[in-house]
Amino acid sequence: MMEPQENTNDDTAPSPAPPPLPRERIPVQKGSVCSRSYFMVVMVFFHVYVLNVIALLLYVHYNSGSEEGRSSRDFSSRSSGHKVAEPLDTQPPDPGFTRKMHLPRLEGIRVGHVQKVSLVPGKVHEMKTLSLKPLLFEIPHFLSDEECAVVMRLAQLKGLMESQVMVPEGQEELNQQLNLSPEEIFHLLDLNQDGQLQQHEILTHSRVRDGIWLTPENLREIYAGLNADQDGNGLLSLEEFGQLSSDAFQRFLFQRGVKRSQLVRNSRHTWLYQGQGAHQVLRELRNRVMRLTRLPPSLVELSEPLQVVRYEQGGHYHAHHDSGPVYPETTCTHTLLAANTTSPFQTSCRYITVLFYLNNVEEGGETTFPVADNRTYEEVSLIQNDVDLLDTRRHCDKGNLRVKPTRGTAVFWYNYLSDGRGWVGEQDEYSLHGGCVVTRGIKWVANNWINVDPDYHRQARYQQLVSQPEETQDPQTDTNPEQYTDTHQDL
Ligand code: OGA
Ligand code: CA
Ligand code: FE2
Repeated sequence: MMEPQENTNDDTAPSPAPPPLPRERIPVQKGSVCSRSYFMVVMVFFHVYVLNVIALLLYVHYNSGSEEGRSSRDFSSRSSGHKVAEPLDTQPPDPGFTRKMHLPRLEGIRVGHVQKVSLVPGKVHEMKTLSLKPLLFEIPHFLSDEECAVVMRLAQLKGLMESQVMVPEGQEELNQQLNLSPEEIFHLLDLNQDGQLQQHEILTHSRVRDGIWLTPENLREIYAGLNADQDGNGLLSLEEFGQLSSDAFQRFLFQRGVKRSQLVRNSRHTWLYQGQGAHQVLRELRNRVMRLTRLPPSLVELSEPLQVVRYEQGGHYHAHHDSGPVYPETTCTHTLLAANTTSPFQTSCRYITVLFYLNNVEEGGETTFPVADNRTYEEVSLIQNDVDLLDTRRHCDKGNLRVKPTRGTAVFWYNYLSDGRGWVGEQDEYSLHGGCVVTRGIKWVANNWINVDPDYHRQARYQQLVSQPEETQDPQTDTNPEQYTDTHQDL
């Protein structure tokens, strides 16, 4: 990496004043005066050319650089004066760009960097960068003890429901309806198409399909109980797989009974409305989140309600992404109303997660970011042999970063990267996180998700629709607003 750069520097660095040596040589080489001056002319042109190219590159870099780069410079000049950080420049990066809304992104600077933020009149909060991948911050004392108490009481008053219901009944019928042969199922599960079913291929499927979190140990027990892995190599061949009935795994699990601790998520939660007319503490929290994220207020106002979560002792939430990946066909649940078609892929599009800790947990219950600031992200290497980095009951200690729950502290992170033009880009896979098992006590948290559709025009259309529902809503539209309200709650 360094070598070509050094060479380039050598080529382009202004030459020092010609040393006496070449001059002395000129009379000696009288016969080659002509070719020598030709050489000098060529060299001068070459230097001018290289310098021009560099100047052009620098010009392009500084004039049409990404908004992030621009913000970074703005920010560092402000923060160097130890002033309270102000909203960053949110101007569009080029004048021909017609989008009205822009999403400022805070600067992390470096891990451990602390910046002061103004969120409450007469008070200054400190915001610390915990990681850059994902861009993750921690703000102690974001909520007062009294505010935490109010949020927990309001949630109790409303009533909490199980975050994940036990595995749905009727798996057998579902399997029959599927109408797929064992070979077909085998090839679908065999993600890397190597003709064998590896542990992680089975585990991933079970988590997505049944919401049951199998450990490699569970899998070995199942294989042993069903005599599935006959050659004992830890893999299932098509032949071995074909000898199992299609619901053999589920049947085995249910006979032994599935415990709540074996689910992807073991907690209870409720949703609290934060719009007009809501409790003052909830309104104020939303306003504080607006000031913190510096996002357009309309966007924050139209986001999901506050989700309040309670984990009992033994509760957990295995590692996950709060948002789905961005495919061209994907529609966001929150903008369904503005989608022209009913898409087969629906996902929650949560640009930012703001997570509040509402109490101190006696032991455990940290929020883990297993791959934060990792050099690479490889899905298959998350589950290796007996270490499953996604498992927050057993392997929280092996992840890269853990945040201890402290009453009143907020952490927040970006689930998407920037598209470089002030809008949402790709999903940030490094935002993978989970709630470690609560080993002693109870844990209360609340999530404020800020929904943004990566499709700018769909987000804009949606905002227009909900701001003037009577005039602009097309009566022919096949999206039912009531259905939308329901899905909003179900997120
Ligand atoms: C969530 C979540 C983490 C935690 O609720 O989506 O990731 O620490 N919670 O409870
Ligand atoms: Ca395989
Ligand atoms: Fe989460």
